[in-house]
Amino acid sequence: MSIDHCHLITFPKIHDPRGNLSFIEGGNHIPFEIKRIYYLYDVPGGADRGGHAHKKLQQVIIAMSGSFDVKLDDGNIKTTFHLNRSYYGLYIGNMIWREIDNFSSGSVCLVLASTVYKEDDYYRDYQKFLENVKNPKDRDVIDKG
Ligand code: TYD
Repeated sequence: MSIDHCHLITFPKIHDPRGNLSFIEGGNHIPFEIKRIYYLYDVPGGADRGGHAHKKLQQVIIAMSGSFDVKLDDGNIKTTFHLNRSYYGLYIGNMIWREIDNFSSGSVCLVLASTVYKEDDYYRDYQKFLENVKNPKDRDVIDKG
């Protein structure tokens, strides 16, 4: 998966003086079947999350509250997204190394994921990730659509 396939998704926003409302529909706004939702919260200042890539899993990351940086690396190209609006989701395909940092106080990072949690889907060693980018062996290549 190339970093070019990682992109922001804009969710619908219903403006209302009483408070805005956004929604996310499976099968419509998300390019995979949602199998799991998890969230990071109570993140202490200066913490780094992520530091891994997934062999098959795809995700959409949303800054539900506050802001943080998502640093992406496909083994060739690196880029950073600053997420600070709850109506944007960042799609991240498989085989993308990600690090999340610069969390604002009280921020909440919501993740929609394409599979249930499986530790054997992770690359947690950056060198092993790079080796597999150059010489793929134990991953499926997700359709580059
Ligand atoms: P990890 O994915 O490494 O978190 P992050 O990338 O945000 O730093 O997961 C942290 C720990 O939580 C790790 O021990 C695995 C566990 N975990 C689950 O048990 N279930 C889950 O759905 C997730 C995402 C993590």
